[in-house]
Amino acid sequence: MKGVLLAGGTGTRLHPLTRITNKHLLPVYDRPMIYYPLQTLVDAGIRDIIIVTGGNNAGDFLRLLGNGREFGLKHLNYTYQERAGGIAEALGLVEDFVDGDKCVVMLGDNILQDSIAPWVEHFRHQPRGARILLKEMENPEHLSHLGVPIMDGGRVRYIREKPATPPSPYAVIGVYMYDSTVFDIIRTLKPSGRGELEITDVNNAYIDRGEMEYDVITGWWGDAGESISAYLEAINFVAQHGVLRAPARA
Ligand code: G1P
Repeated sequence: MKGVLLAGGTGTRLHPLTRITNKHLLPVYDRPMIYYPLQTLVDAGIRDIIIVTGGNNAGDFLRLLGNGREFGLKHLNYTYQERAGGIAEALGLVEDFVDGDKCVVMLGDNILQDSIAPWVEHFRHQPRGARILLKEMENPEHLSHLGVPIMDGGRVRYIREKPATPPSPYAVIGVYMYDSTVFDIIRTLKPSGRGELEITDVNNAYIDRGEMEYDVITGWWGDAGESISAYLEAINFVAQHGVLRAPARA
């Protein structure tokens, strides 16, 4: 199982904080944002990880993370997204790295309280297709900034991206598990209204094939790049309650 950590984009929703740096390098309490999802992948037993980044600060990731020694890794891989073409476009860049294997894709601004190891284990045993993680949101206001599933008889029937009226109380969080056919799907995608290749279109293609499974997480989850208030909420949660995270630098 390969790990893909997506850390590109322009971070406009956090301007001016992101005018001179990449969103995923901003502090969340006492760690750079990217430390949290990287630790989540490592904790789930994933050792072969690639980071996709872009923009003017790509070199800072190498300086910050190196070979991932702080996370118990021997090696980290990096690749560069030349334009902000969306999450699915970024994922399309790692086809050679994934090399026919399954992969767990994580967005570099997603912070989870709990381990995803049990869900990754479900996916290891899943013969084909994809698997997403859902979180029931207490505050439905968030849902209009996220992917929201339409549920039907215990299955996900469709995912709406940033719906004005949420069709369910669940958010599709930024942890996605795919078999290697994901790259064939990405090749068929057309840019959305915001000019990006959308990960939600990838997920809907798996749903159409009847090959999408899901788990519902119960621990705290935040998309720290969603807005300045979501960023602040993430900092406060991590400071007050703690989440799964890498040990401090010696
Ligand atoms: C992306 C996805 C969205 C998902 C969210 C989770 O949104 O498009 O479906 O719910 O990540 O963090 P974006 O951050 O690109 O607006």
